[in-house]
Amino acid sequence: MCGIVGYTGRHSATEHLIEGLRRLEYRGYDSAGIALGTPKKLFVEKRAGKLINLENSLGKAIPDAHSGIGHTRWATHGGPSDKNAHPHCDNEGKLAVIHNGIIENYAELRSDLESRGHTFDSETDTESVAHLLSELHKGHKGDLASAMREAVALLRGSFTLLAIHSDNPEVIVGVRRNSPLVVGLGEGENFLASDVSAFIEYTKRAVALGQDEVVTITPSSVSITDLKGRDLAFKEYEITWDSKAAEKGGFTHFMLKEIFEQPKAIADTLLGRLGDKNQIVLDELHLTKEEIKGLAKIVVLACGTAYHAGLVAKYAIEKWAKIPVEVELASEFRYRDPIIDKQTLVIAISQSGETMDTLMALRYAKAQGARVLAVCNTNSSTIPRESDAVLYTHAGPEIAVASTKAFLTQLIAVYVIGLYLAQVRGVMSGDDIRKIFNEMDELPAKVEQILETVEPLRELTRSFSQSTSVLFLGRHIGFPVALEGALKLKELAYMHAEGFAGGELKHGPIALIEEGTPVIAILPFGHEYSLDEKMLSNIQEVKARGAKVIVIAQEDIVVQGADHVIRIPGAPALLQAVLATVPLQVFAYEMAIARGNDVDQPRNLAKSVTVE
Ligand code: AGP
Repeated sequence: MCGIVGYTGRHSATEHLIEGLRRLEYRGYDSAGIALGTPKKLFVEKRAGKLINLENSLGKAIPDAHSGIGHTRWATHGGPSDKNAHPHCDNEGKLAVIHNGIIENYAELRSDLESRGHTFDSETDTESVAHLLSELHKGHKGDLASAMREAVALLRGSFTLLAIHSDNPEVIVGVRRNSPLVVGLGEGENFLASDVSAFIEYTKRAVALGQDEVVTITPSSVSITDLKGRDLAFKEYEITWDSKAAEKGGFTHFMLKEIFEQPKAIADTLLGRLGDKNQIVLDELHLTKEEIKGLAKIVVLACGTAYHAGLVAKYAIEKWAKIPVEVELASEFRYRDPIIDKQTLVIAISQSGETMDTLMALRYAKAQGARVLAVCNTNSSTIPRESDAVLYTHAGPEIAVASTKAFLTQLIAVYVIGLYLAQVRGVMSGDDIRKIFNEMDELPAKVEQILETVEPLRELTRSFSQSTSVLFLGRHIGFPVALEGALKLKELAYMHAEGFAGGELKHGPIALIEEGTPVIAILPFGHEYSLDEKMLSNIQEVKARGAKVIVIAQEDIVVQGADHVIRIPGAPALLQAVLATVPLQVFAYEMAIARGNDVDQPRNLAKSVTVE
């Protein structure tokens, strides 16, 4: 998604803006630009492509400005081009705007503005805002914040906007609707950005803007109002990440670093979850015992990898807590008239806490009376702020677009929720709960063990690097893992990949198997339904048709007929989703390398999808 940065203070704006945009590159983009707060007319430079193109075009003739706004664009309306890059300006070049989101009524705004003599340069929705704001700025006698408030009343859609005007260049005004916006509080300087990574090395003091709030920053002041212009008090928080944490720490890619951070991420997420009386602790839930006992069902809302964590949640929560669980693709949920009421607990799973599909779905569920528990990895992001409760995962900053450590910690979070609900509802004994929790406590070391043996996987992956398609098979908890393995391969290796329930093979997908088709089979382990045997016959079925089979299997499982077996440590079936996923993450990573792809910022993808 688009990256937004604003700076006003005593240092060179260009340096702070470019550095800020560099730290937001992970969000995925296809053009970049800045506007500097120079008097009379703003200095604007913008280029399609990567940030380096913008830096090269800036050259040496950059005015000495101490305020400005910067943007990395992920194209929605209008393809990636210099003209469609942000910032967008009014016709006099005195006002510039940058935007994250979608202005749904931009076309009617544009024709109104053109009928009043405005001429447009680009195909974007954002440029309409620049011309509209320019008119309102005059109407409000140069009060940019009031002009912004009036403009917002005329816009439809989701938008976070920053604006700057050459009449008062040290002032930057922002507004936030849906897409995130945070303030960085400095000494004699202040920042605005889509997320804290943009200014973390200059200040750790931040304020997260709420829905429909308008912020005005100068080098010495920050003020926030509602859309009516009423001042709002705001709460500062300290950013717990340090800028080093967001560095690669010696790894070639953020993704590899984050794969190797998984043991610690799991341990950190488990920390404090077993109380001194050996009971599961989940105080954040804010539900009374009666409310928990009165729950009729749970609905999980999520997208992508987080959705796969939701599928695992279904197995665990239904098995342990005996509550029906529905798992919904957030983007589909609210269009099918779902049955939601006060007896529904919604769990919204999101690493970024900004995924628009998930946010809109949880808003719908709340409007129907549901209680919402967020499972999130990003402090003070929108989804937890709009939920009734939040269970933070502690994976630390996940920079790579492909989610890895966030996924494993989402699994830990939903396991903790399942055990806690079982404990409160009295449907599992304390001993059984503690036994499972102790097994969870061993997962960091087991993931560590797997990571120590990934070397052979590198060679193996390269032998499949020219394949056009890879199939993933799993049963029970292995099925969501198969889906996650396929997603990783799609988004990193740009290969067709599909995950199937093993039992579904004979209902169609087996027709896909031909000589040399790579099939990765994930065996559920020690499962009481003896699913291992069924998976082993699936392996025979695909082998008989020429498939090349890689099996992910626990140490003590005898596997016949596979071309390669990747061993992982034993664990109770439901917890195996954590361990079986790790080799698939490494497989996808190595495949991306073998195919020369951009591992941390795969094409067309964004780390946080803040448009619907
Ligand atoms: C996962 O590798 C993808 N990057 C994507 O599917 C992601 O999981 C999805 O967009 C949800 O993001 P969220 O967890 O931040 O809501």
